[in-house]
Amino acid sequence: MIAKPQKLQPHEAPHETPSPPGVKTLPPRANHFRGSLGRFATGVAIVTFDGPTKRHGLTVNSFTSVSMKPPLVLVSIARSTRTHDELANRPFAVNILGAEQKDLAMHFAGRPSREPLWVEGETAPRLSGVLAYFECTPWAAYDGGDHTLYLGQVENFDYRSGDALAFANSRFTTIPELLRGDEELL
Ligand SMILES: Cc1cc2nc3c(=O)[nH]c(=O)nc-3n(C[C@H](O)[C@H](O)[C@H](O)COP(=O)(O)O)c2cc1C
Repeated sequence: MIAKPQKLQPHEAPHETPSPPGVKTLPPRANHFRGSLGRFATGVAIVTFDGPTKRHGLTVNSFTSVSMKPPLVLVSIARSTRTHDELANRPFAVNILGAEQKDLAMHFAGRPSREPLWVEGETAPRLSGVLAYFECTPWAAYDGGDHTLYLGQVENFDYRSGDALAFANSRFTTIPELLRGDEELL
């Protein structure tokens, strides 16, 4: 007889049995979801823009390229952030961070330190010394559950050489730039 598929409660892991005393218990199922997502290594970026009330910066790892023609990029912003409502219909910049810019990432993730140097971009304010940047005009915003997916049309961009800051398994790490000449091996 084929067993009927068992409907899992949100907090239950499949085949989860109680751990014997002294053995570390598995984290709840919600953390497994976060943990699974965390296996996808990403770069780290900061979204910057002038909102109706003030200038904003917000660290994200949800940056994605979307389209070449027209040139579109996407960031996913949590509804719970102060940034969320202010970003609607605003030009913004996405600042891609270099390996040495972890402090900058934390500055715009709720752990403020030294005020960074700003650049008045053509379309939106951006940060000085980043690995790459994209200045965008608003293209569309889509419902994404407890986040909103903000798409921007890229109006201006550039990059420098250097290692990239990366984020994986809830930790910062580094992605080294390929050494000059490696491409000749391909
Ligand atoms: C590495 C990293 C990646 C993050 N990625 C996102 C993201 O993609 N979207 C988001 O809404 N928040 C993200 N956050 C959390 C925000 O940076 C954080 O909640 C911020 O303090 C919100 O600021 P605000 O409430 O002043 O707008 C990330 C934080 C870190 C450290």
